[in-house]
Amino acid sequence: MKGLILSGGSGRRLRPLTHTSAKQLVPIANKPILHYVVEDLVSVGVVDIAIVVGDTVEEVRASVGDGSRWGANVTYVHQEAPLGLAHAVLVAGEFLRDDPFVMYLGDNMFEDSLDRVVDGFVDSGDAARLLLAGVEDPSAFGVAELDDSGVIVGLVEKPADPPSNLALVGVYLFGASIHEAVRSIQPSARGELEITDAIQWLLDDGAAVDHRVLDGWWIDTGKKDPLLACNRLVLARMAGDGVVIDEGAEVVDSTLVGPVVVAAGARIVDSTVGPSVAVGAGCRIEGSTVVDSVLMEGSAVLGHRRVVASVLGREAQVQGAHLSGGPVDGVGADLSVLLGDHSVVDVAGGVEGGAIRDG
Ligand code: TTP
Repeated sequence: MKGLILSGGSGRRLRPLTHTSAKQLVPIANKPILHYVVEDLVSVGVVDIAIVVGDTVEEVRASVGDGSRWGANVTYVHQEAPLGLAHAVLVAGEFLRDDPFVMYLGDNMFEDSLDRVVDGFVDSGDAARLLLAGVEDPSAFGVAELDDSGVIVGLVEKPADPPSNLALVGVYLFGASIHEAVRSIQPSARGELEITDAIQWLLDDGAAVDHRVLDGWWIDTGKKDPLLACNRLVLARMAGDGVVIDEGAEVVDSTLVGPVVVAAGARIVDSTVGPSVAVGAGCRIEGSTVVDSVLMEGSAVLGHRRVVASVLGREAQVQGAHLSGGPVDGVGADLSVLLGDHSVVDVAGGVEGGAIRDG
């Protein structure tokens, strides 16, 4: 079976981070999401992989390369614009040929291995196998309609009146008939070739569309809060309530509350960090408290009392009022931000009387 990872898209919901870089390369516990995806595929024997890329092609290629470090063979397929998940299948036709394949959304993460999902698909001869998860708000997703015997009979995109609570999640298995389906459908009202329409086309054509229901957690990391939730879960899995400090990182007069990971070259001074913080390579935290956050490479939190639930892009910087003396009680409010690469937030500086103060 081949693998098709979707790493194009516009990433509007993670702006401004995605103005300068690919959302699939945001690190979770200091490792890019896309690397987890490749590892997941390789772990179930899928090593012949194409990654669909858009504007961020160079960055994605620099991060993943030819896949040899995972024993995979990774190639790249260019999609001129994010014209839909079914459009991504269309542009990858030459790579996929008539082989069965796993399509994996490059910003999705799963708790469990795909073993149970891919097991037996190739021999089944089914046209597709979908992965479904019970969700609380099905009207935000593509939703499956099942008959009394549990067979999928239809799919609806973001239904006002959902036929079930089972949403399609970011892994799909397809056989060769999907190619005719993606060629046969028309763009939706939002101008995209929808994969749900292509699967509905298969169903209408009388094809067998099987499914599996997910047990473990699944997260679409394309927004800040789910991204932080994912970071918490992966850090807990990796470090429990412990602390992982890479060689070459420096921690001085500080308290780390696990789970926390600290990458090489990071420097933490006079601070409290954690729980659930990933400190990227070369980051600086001084005189501050940082909780439940992702600090990307080279970013810094300096002299701010509490930074919580935040994502700092590469080289981004938050600085507070009291740069020299370490944390000062009652000065500086909790700050929660999503900062693009190279942004600077000076919480107390600039505006007269504009410092944020609590108490
Ligand atoms: P989405 O998160 O649904 O779309 P998006 O990246 O455009 O994000 P936003 O809604 O915030 O603007 O896409 C799911 C995954 O598929 C993601 O990794 C991007 C990728 N993708 C493509 O590769 N090509 C496409 O045409 C689309 C729509 C998405």
